[in-house]
Amino acid sequence: MAVATPPPTAAWTPDSWRSKRAAQQPRWPDERELKRVHAQLNGLPPLVFAGEARHLTRALGEAAQGKAFVLQAGDCAESFTEFSADGIRDKLKVILQMAVVLTYGAGVPVVKVGRIAGQFAKPRTSPTEQVGDLVLDSFRGHMVNDDLPEPGARVPDPARLVAAYQQSVSTLNLLRAFTKGGFADLSQIHAWNQEFVASSTEGRRFDDIAEGIDRALRFMAACGINLTAEDTLHQVNFWTSHEALILDYEEALTRRDSLTGDWYDCSAHMLWVGERTRQLDGAHCEFLSGIHNPVGSKVGPSATADDVVALCERLNPGRIPGRLTLITRFGAAAVDATLPPLLRAVRSEGHPVVWMCDPMHGNTFTAEGGRKTRRFDDIIAELKGFFRAHREVGTWPGGVHVELTGDDVTECLGGVEEIVEGQLDQRYTTACDPRLNGRQALDLAFGVAELLRS
Ligand code: PEP
Ligand code: CO
Repeated sequence: MAVATPPPTAAWTPDSWRSKRAAQQPRWPDERELKRVHAQLNGLPPLVFAGEARHLTRALGEAAQGKAFVLQAGDCAESFTEFSADGIRDKLKVILQMAVVLTYGAGVPVVKVGRIAGQFAKPRTSPTEQVGDLVLDSFRGHMVNDDLPEPGARVPDPARLVAAYQQSVSTLNLLRAFTKGGFADLSQIHAWNQEFVASSTEGRRFDDIAEGIDRALRFMAACGINLTAEDTLHQVNFWTSHEALILDYEEALTRRDSLTGDWYDCSAHMLWVGERTRQLDGAHCEFLSGIHNPVGSKVGPSATADDVVALCERLNPGRIPGRLTLITRFGAAAVDATLPPLLRAVRSEGHPVVWMCDPMHGNTFTAEGGRKTRRFDDIIAELKGFFRAHREVGTWPGGVHVELTGDDVTECLGGVEEIVEGQLDQRYTTACDPRLNGRQALDLAFGVAELLRS
């Protein structure tokens, strides 16, 4: 079934954003070099196809209508230096584990979307940062500059746009192999439990589920059901997404679909605008308004009900279920008061959005030693508030959006293993915000499954 597409705004073109104010864009030192890179990217193959993006819109449409749940997860910022096949595999393992916990625990289909294969650019609150005695231009993600604490490293370099594209290509290639080539087969479920997870309480809880699934599969096979023929047991659909921040990059990868004539940003299946770039009259909303991918917008504590309804009109005037996801990130303390009025306003205007909770970005603080961190308990508290608000209003809590890694890092505080502030330095490797480690992520999935069940 084809998804109806919104009517194109008369003046929209892949570069119409250029006539609007574009927040958070790097000051590239060499315009000619930028133009050359833009032309190069424009000639390179798309990472994803329009048909895949339409498929994701339909899957998200199910979540908008209360029939599915979305798990969007991955790094805060992918890194050029921390890049390996094992790292990608381990991240995928955790996401697959979380999805199984949610599907098995709550009995709803889970749409799996990675913050991966393109999540290389970061908006910054301040244009500069202090490192020791130095005041440096802020690190803006490896698509733009380098995080080394040296002035030279912080100069934006357009060649990084091509490097980000190339790393996205190889990441996506591996993800496609893993998810379609046997690794995501439900018969492999025990292999997703990594050693440092398997030995933990959460890991053992996961093994119990895996055992239950094994038994169910054996039972079905014994009943004569041909499981080999069931593709859904052997492959998963795994989608890619990132913040559409650097518009030169996104524009260069935007292509017209030969089937429908519509424009798609082929850098990822789904794109979102961040809390700092969601201005209605800004360049980022202009860009997202004309591409036909499913799109999202972060919604922070400053957003009023009118703002959010206007955002829906701007990004999904056709009211297509699955076209627009609103990712709320208020902080544990603000969610109860802030979210219900927005849910009511959007519903009364008839906008079919996917409501997703990002319990990470409103709960960040700097610990005494200077590390940015988040408390696991705050993350869970915001999630509980999110579910409470939806129960109160009668809307569907459509998904969660989290920053995680498969690695055994010490970046977020708490969790079953009780990471404390003094341990943050032990394994703090994120290129930007603090991520949940594999055990904390699994723990969170069990918590969300419980919330979904109730
Ligand atoms: C992010 O998702 O990494 C981010 C910067 O979020 P926000 O725009 O919500 O601050
Ligand atoms: Co982040």
